[in-house]
Parts: sequence; structure tokens; C-alpha cells
Amino acid sequence: MTQPMRDRIVSFKFWKQGGVIAHASDPTIIGRRFDPTDDLSRAWSGEISGSFEDLDHAESAAEAALGIPLLEVYSPIRELWSGDIIAVAEFYEKAEQLEVDMARARRTSWLVVGSAFAASTIVLFSIVAIGDNTIRRQGRLLERRLKESEQMAEQNARLRSRVVEASERYATQTDRFLKKLGSELHDGPAQYLSLAALRLEAAFSDRHEKPAEAEEIQQSLQKSLAEIRALSRGLSAPDIDNLALIDVVKRAIEDHSEHSPLRPGVSLQGSQTIELSVSDKLCVFRFLQETLSNAARYAPNSRCTVICEAHNDRVVIHVNDEGPGFDPSDGKVLRDDGGQGLLGLRDRVESIGGRFEVWSSPGKGTSVTMTLFPRKMSTS
Ligand SMILES: Nc1ncnc2c1ncn2[C@@H]1O[C@H](COP(=O)(O)OP(=O)(O)OP(=O)(O)O)[C@@H](O)[C@H]1O
Ligand SMILES: [Mg+2]
Repeated sequence: MTQPMRDRIVSFKFWKQGGVIAHASDPTIIGRRFDPTDDLSRAWSGEISGSFEDLDHAESAAEAALGIPLLEVYSPIRELWSGDIIAVAEFYEKAEQLEVDMARARRTSWLVVGSAFAASTIVLFSIVAIGDNTIRRQGRLLERRLKESEQMAEQNARLRSRVVEASERYATQTDRFLKKLGSELHDGPAQYLSLAALRLEAAFSDRHEKPAEAEEIQQSLQKSLAEIRALSRGLSAPDIDNLALIDVVKRAIEDHSEHSPLRPGVSLQGSQTIELSVSDKLCVFRFLQETLSNAARYAPNSRCTVICEAHNDRVVIHVNDEGPGFDPSDGKVLRDDGGQGLLGLRDRVESIGGRFEVWSSPGKGTSVTMTLFPRKMSTS
């Protein structure tokens, strides 16, 4: 053993098979037997093995007592010619430098692990922070959009309400105009025609027999008078401004009965004291005027019923008959001529925010329903 080697090796043992010490730097243990350690067994199977500061076996008691860091190395000794393992040499080498190196390696690896951990923490934190910022930004964007949608919905509701108000005013004005036209027809041309008929009658009163031409003129005058009166009646709506819903319904039915044999049954449900605007009442009146006129014309021999339901927030009026019915989906039946027929009625009802429905089918009668949602009292 060289000098520096001798300085580093503090103890050695040569093992025979069976855990017996053949030779050792400590002569007191020569010939003793110890239970083979794992390292010793590995050396017997041909491996060089070693361990650092693992001196808790009985055979290492003396070395452990030295209290210095030791590297324990087992090395198989082979027979030169056969290569068989004939013994195992065990050395205990001072390992202060190794310990220092290991401590440095440990420090370095902790440093590497720590730096890697810190770097990944920073990266993760940045990712989370960026994600968080994105989420906040999108949240703010969504909030803004939501607010804009709410504002838009409010504006739509305001505009819709203004359109309905304008339609109500327009419908009321149109009715006033029609009423005026009806009165003018009644007070003007009808009076002149009536006067002409009277004069004609008077002109031939002294004659025994009226000439045939005079008779024809008289009949034409009477016919024109009847038509103008009917026209005037149809155009004018009664003064319903101060009537309650129930009275408007009754009035429409009475007006209709004056010139029609149809006698509809009436059912009034709910609180009829609900307050309606003038345009709502006019709409009720015109609805009954048209649907009753249709029932009288197209279902003259069948039962007809008017049902008026007044709820807190809406008024529903049904006019049902058990007549021949028709197919409402047939484009040729409902004529869109801007008149007062069912389509004109639909426009009128919907323009003031109401609902209008027609159920009918050939042979199964007809049911026309109008729903109004009175919003406020209007005197316009
Ligand atoms: N109660 C009903 N029973 C059977 N058919 C009906 C009834 N009401 C309407 N109809 C059918 O629907 C068609 C359209 O009716 P609408 O009231 O729109 O127009 P109109 O009565 O023909 O003409 P206007 O009402 O302008 O005098 C009618 O021509 C008729 O064929
Ligand atoms: Mg009609």
C-alpha cells in the first residue's frame, strides 16, 4: 500500500466464505464470524460495492467508533488462473473530502431544484396573472355588452310604447273623421235626397196616377237614401268616450240588432269596471261591429255568442258562431284591401299592442278573438 493510500485507509478486512474474517488490520477480529452484509454478499457474487457512513453492522463497530466519515468498499479477490472468487477485501477509507463534495453536490442540486422551482413558480404565476387579466377584461366587456343590451331593450320598449301611442291616436282620429263623414252624409246628401223624394211626391199628389218615370225616380231616390243612411250608420261610431266596457259591448250589439236579425247571446265575465282608453273602446266597438256583421252575413242561421272576459291586465273578447266556417289560411278568402274586414281589424288591434286570432274551418263554425292589454287611461 502506498503512503498516501495508507493515510486514507483506516482499516481493512479479508473475508473468507461464510462470513469469516481471514485477515484484518485489527488482529482481534481475525478468525471471527459475522453475519454477511448485503454489500459483502454482492461482492461474493462478483460486484464491487460500497457504502458511505453505513457502519451499523457488528463487523463495523470498531470503525464506527472512530467517529469520522468513512467509505466502506467491498471488492472480490479472484484466483489468477481460474477467475474464481476466493476472498473479499473490505476497506474503510477516510471520506472527509467525499463528504465535502457530497455536501457541495447536495447544495448545487438544491440550488438547481430551487431555481427551477422559482422559475416555474414565476412562469405559472405569470400565466395565471395573464389569464386572470384576460378573464377580468372579458368580464368587463360582457358587463358592458349586457348594459348595452339592457339599454337597447329599454329603448325598444320606449319606442314600441310610442308607436302604440301614435297608433292609438291615429285610430282615434280616423274614427273621428269617419264619424264626421257619416254625419255629413246623414245631414247633407241624405237630407237633400229626402227632400227631393218629398218634392217629387208632392209634385204628383194631385194626380190620380203617377207617371211610370216619376215612380222610377222615386224608387231610385228611396234606394239611394237607404244606402246613404246605411253607409252613414256604418261609418259613425257612437259616443263611447264615457262608456264602460260593458256598455260599449252592449251598445255595439244593440246597434247591430237595429238593422240585422242576428241576436247574439252575451256572456260577461270578470270585473267589467276595468278602465280602457278611448282607442281601446273604439277598437272593441269596431271589432264587434265587423265580427257580428260577418256572422250575420255568412252564418245567418246559426247561434252566435259574444264572450267578454275582463281580467286585471287584459280584456279578451270572443265572437263565436256555429255557421259554415271557412279556411283562414286560404289567401283568397281574407282580402288585404286595407278595408275594415278581418285583416283591417287585425292591423287595428295589433297596432295598439293587442292580439287578434281567427279560428275557423269549413263546417266547424268560426271564432274570432281579440285580446287588449290596457296600459293606461288615454283621453286622446
Ligand atoms: N263568421 C264567418 N263565417 C263564415 N265565413 C266567414 C265568417 N267571417 C268571415 N268569413 C269569410 O272570410 C271572408 C273575409 O271576411 P272579411 O270580413 O275580411 O271580408 P268581407 O266580409 O268579405 O268584406 P268586408 O268585411 O270588407 O265587407 C269572407 O268573405 C267570408 O268568406
Ligand atoms: Mg266582413
